[in-house]
Amino acid sequence: MPPSFETPAAPAPQDEVGKTDRAREKLEAPHLMTEKFDITLNINGRDYPVRVEARRTLVDAIRDDCGQTGTHIGCEHGICGACTIILDDVAVRSCLMFAVQANGRKIRTVEGLADGDALHPIQQAFIDHHGLQCGFCTPGFLMLAVNVLEREPDIGDEDLLDVLASNLCRCTGYQNIIKAVRAAPPRRCARRPREGGDVKAAT
Ligand code: FES
Ligand code: FES
Repeated sequence: MPPSFETPAAPAPQDEVGKTDRAREKLEAPHLMTEKFDITLNINGRDYPVRVEARRTLVDAIRDDCGQTGTHIGCEHGICGACTIILDDVAVRSCLMFAVQANGRKIRTVEGLADGDALHPIQQAFIDHHGLQCGFCTPGFLMLAVNVLEREPDIGDEDLLDVLASNLCRCTGYQNIIKAVRAAPPRRCARRPREGGDVKAAT
């Protein structure tokens, strides 16, 4: 049989068809960028029904839509940790999440630490050991520290340093933050659910 010199069909048209379809979908659905979604953020045991665009970050929703401004915004790139909150018992950077991803999940922020006038043991430890100066990084450090002590009350010094090294402080030089977290009674930092889903420091 003589060899065939037919040019094989180029794969490009298939790809182009795919690309064109995707481009058309985007053009036909510009509303996906601005469409708003009704979600409920449960912050410190209280439900906040909010309407947000899919691209709204969780920290913006917590601060601007729910009025809980204790959580700070620094770099907005996941570097500084100022926006650290506890989501379903895990410390996360709320600038790296979309609000819609937290729909119906349990969010804890610095506002939920104190029990009325009684400070949380970690807050008291920061005061006692001068773990803050300007205070900008403090909410993030508090939530990070509470979470690590809840999860690993017996954590060793080196591992604790590793965890705390994920957040940045421009003022303290870190030594007093480390002292404060080390001095906080880990068992008293463990928390138990309050009725209605809120949490309270164990006594
Ligand atoms: Fe989120 Fe800096 S503001 S990590
Ligand atoms: Fe100022 Fe940490 S106390 S940034």
